[in-house]
This record gives sequence, structure tokens and C-alpha cells, in this order.
Amino acid sequence: MKVIVTGGAGFIGSHLVRRLLSLGHEVVIIDNFSSGKRGNVPLGIDCIEIDLSIADFTTQLPHGNYDAVCHLAAQSAGALSAEKPLYDLQANAISTLLLSRWCLDQGISRFLYASSMVTYGNVDNSPVSEDVLCVPRSYYGVSKLTSEHLLRLAGVDGLNVTSLRMFSVYGPGQDLGNVKQGMVSIFLSYMLRGVEVPVTGSLERFRDFVYVEDVVDAWMKALSLSRTPREVYNLGSGYGTTVRDLLSSLMRAFSFSSDYPICELEGNTSDQFGLYADISNTTMDLEWEPQTSLDDGLRLMVDWAQTHYSKQD
Ligand SMILES: NC(=O)c1ccc[n+]([C@@H]2O[C@H](COP(=O)([O-])OP(=O)(O)OC[C@H]3O[C@@H](n4cnc5c(N)ncnc54)[C@H](O)[C@@H]3O)[C@@H](O)[C@H]2O)c1
Repeated sequence: MKVIVTGGAGFIGSHLVRRLLSLGHEVVIIDNFSSGKRGNVPLGIDCIEIDLSIADFTTQLPHGNYDAVCHLAAQSAGALSAEKPLYDLQANAISTLLLSRWCLDQGISRFLYASSMVTYGNVDNSPVSEDVLCVPRSYYGVSKLTSEHLLRLAGVDGLNVTSLRMFSVYGPGQDLGNVKQGMVSIFLSYMLRGVEVPVTGSLERFRDFVYVEDVVDAWMKALSLSRTPREVYNLGSGYGTTVRDLLSSLMRAFSFSSDYPICELEGNTSDQFGLYADISNTTMDLEWEPQTSLDDGLRLMVDWAQTHYSKQD
């Protein structure tokens, strides 16, 4: 298969690119390196530096007989989306509109989209299924949900779209220098330095943490199908973990004692209190199940972080 991966220099995108290459697929990466790393681009791979927030970006896209586009490029920090809502809309939703129309023009029929659990907003009951009403609480969530709708319309015109609503993805390669994005990587980065962990919001909040290689398994399953029965699927572990339990799990992964210092701070109004995924549709249609327990995944991530960190010293 010939696949375009936008955001292929980022955390999840680079795992997907490596998997595609290891299975013999041809990959072109599109990225503007705003949060992605040049070191994530495998040697010898076509990588085109394009900013998808620019209105005429499709003129810079490569021509060729591509089988699919995996669209992961995005500004994905909720806090930043509140500071720059217009940019968020351009980089996340308008980019998706233009890219999907370009695919239709080019005769590319398969489109996978990196959507998010933030589309749901606050929900009363978990597990949350794809069919509940989405009321996003951040500009980021609005742009992700808008993208899903724009893709639904492209679907009417013939694009085979699958939007994967990922929950809290974690694992090796996550940016430990970014303290605005990713609960696991943020907490881990403080513990790595042996300093107090500031925790914003209640310790009883809960999330659905899913290991990055499990997520890539699902993307590959979706890619192997020319279309999926549904347009939207949850990608999560299928169970909730409180912030308190996540911190304990991380302490175990570091072999720290359970009284490691934590400082509780007031939360943000746009934060979701708690939700976890109903993955029954994903399990059934994609024949996918996450394989990695939170303890195992965190141990792998801590091992990676400790090696990476000591290499940088
Ligand atoms: N990490 C998670 O837990 C999670 C959960 C749900 C959804 N997602 C979505 O998955 C995707 C990948 O997330 P990630 O965690 O790997 O983030 P990331 O920031 O590591 O990757 C995003 C990539 O997109 C690139 N990019 C950003 N804006 C761009 C632009 N305007 N033009 C071109 N490239 C641009 C960045 O340079 C980076 O390489 C995003 O769409 C994100 O919203 C992530």
C-alpha cells in the first residue's frame, strides 16, 4: 500500500509510520514539525514539510497513486486551542476539509482520521459509546467533531472514512518536554526528574489510558479494510483509571514509594471529569482488542524515558 501519513513526525504518527514500513508499505510523511521531531522521520523516507493550517496547502501535496491517507496532524493541546481558537480551527478542521476534498479529486478512496475522546465533552455515564450526543467543551474538541462531520459529508461523495476517537494514548516517544499535553507524559516527566508532581484537578477524575502500540494495531486493522461498517470508532482500553491510580501505577513503574510528593492544584473548566470508552463496536468490526495492561505499558514507557533521558545527559 502507498500511504500518506500527516503528523507522521509526531508521537502516534511516528509509531504508525514505523509499523507501516515494517510491513513493507510505502509511506510519505507530511508534517510541519510544530510538535513533531525530525528524529522521528526514518532515514530515506519521503517527508514533505507542509503546514496544513495554510489555506492553499493542497498545492504542495505529492501526486501519485496513493491508497490511503492517515490524517493525524493537528494542534492537539486543549489549553492552546483556547488561546488560539481560530488557528485551532484552521489547523484541525479546515485542514481536514481541504485534505478530504483533495483525496476525492485525486481518486484516493481511503481516509483514516485521528479523532479524540474530547468530542464527547462531559458525559454522565461511562463506558461511553460512539452514539451518545457529543458536546465538546474545548475549541480543540469542537474542531475534532467538526472534522468528523466534514468527513461524513466527504463520505457521501465517495470517500471511505473512518474516524478513530482515541482516548488517552501513552507510550514511548511521547514528548516529555511538553507540559501542556498528555497526562501520563506530564506526570512521568516530573517523576523522571525526581521532583514534586503538580496535579491539576481532582485525583478522582478518571481517564481511559491506552498504549500506543495497541492504538497502532487498531489503525492497521482499519487500514486493512476498504471501508468500515461505521464511520466512527472508540479507541480506548475500555476501562477507567483515576488520576490517583495512574499516579500509583507510575510510582510502581519507577519503584518509588507510595508517598512520592504530589501537589494538588485547581482544575481547568474545560477539563472532562471522567470517561472511558465502550469499545464493543471497535472490537467487533475491527476485530481488535488492546493487549497491554496499564502497569506493563507504563513500565515500557518508564524504561524508554530513563534510557532516553540518560542518553541526553
Ligand atoms: N495523544 C493522545 O492521547 C491523542 C488522543 C486523541 C487524539 N489524538 C490525536 O492524534 C493525533 C496525533 O497526536 P499525537 O499525540 O501524536 O500529537 P503530536 O503533537 O505528537 O503529533 C502531531 C503531529 O502533527 C504535526 N502538525 C501539527 N500541526 C500541523 C500543521 N498545521 N501542519 C502539519 N503538521 C502539523 C506536528 O508537528 C506533529 O508531528 C492528533 O490529531 C491528536 O489530536 C491524540
